[in-house]
Amino acid sequence: MQILRTVDELRSWSRGERCRKKGLSGLVPTMGALHDGHASLICAAAQQCPGRVAVSIFVNPTQFGPNEDFARYPRTFGADSDLAERSGASVIFAPSVDEMYPSGAATFVDVEGLNERLDGKSRPGHFRGVATVVAKLLIAAETDLAFFGQKDAAQVSVLRRLVADLRLATKLVICPIVREADGLAMSSRNVYLSADERRQALVLNRAIRYVEELVASGERESSALAEAARLIFSEEPMVRPDYVELVNWETLLPVNTAVPGTLFAVAAWVGNTRLIDNTIIL
Ligand code: PAJ
Repeated sequence: MQILRTVDELRSWSRGERCRKKGLSGLVPTMGALHDGHASLICAAAQQCPGRVAVSIFVNPTQFGPNEDFARYPRTFGADSDLAERSGASVIFAPSVDEMYPSGAATFVDVEGLNERLDGKSRPGHFRGVATVVAKLLIAAETDLAFFGQKDAAQVSVLRRLVADLRLATKLVICPIVREADGLAMSSRNVYLSADERRQALVLNRAIRYVEELVASGERESSALAEAARLIFSEEPMVRPDYVELVNWETLLPVNTAVPGTLFAVAAWVGNTRLIDNTIIL
């Protein structure tokens, strides 16, 4: 597995591939600590862009707040490159912080409005960091497609806006949420959970499923659906909900009525770990 360390190497790989043969190229941006959710993105990329998939592994400091887990975020490069290769990656792009943020870097990307909704509200500056690093990655990789997970649904809204506003040529492909057998959405942060917290964390998925059932049985009023979800959360008093919201998936603004395409998203603290989950209303 070829490991690229610089933006120039990534750009040369991408341009070389374009000259070498016809067909689409793909990028899968990650922060490493790869699990089957990431693998599903890489597999989707390998299917649509056979032999031309770059997986980036970069724990992006600018998307972490000062009291967040940047320093202790799991870093498992050896296992990551094995999983990436098995899933169909062609190269890994693993730059240093200095490579992505050269000394004196002063350019940041702010997707105004969206950057202060949902996770952006609880984590000020988070989406500025995400938008900045993803803009850098998309510009460097010059791929036709870039693959992201619905798991981070608000991130998807921010990145769709970014690509539209900057008129980037890369098309975003959004892949479904991959879950553990018991329903917990896979996340690199699940390793932080104690056995007890791991059990408590299932309440996020229970709230999601319950809202899906209510919608299927005809309830469409957002306040009733959110209230019902909060009731489910109250079954786990040690879990502290951060947000429980029904929003327009494009604008992330609250909606009064859930319609097909509405995003129902939750975030909650389980001990010191913040987890998120969501569903798109049918
Ligand atoms: P990271 O959390 O490593 O996630 C990388 C990609 O994997 C994201 O698009 C995320 O939505 C997707 N993903 C994570 N868990 C998933 C699951 N259970 N099912 C499906 N997809 C899943 O998201 C980031 O990194 C960063 O913000 C990044 C975009 C790389 C910018 O730094």
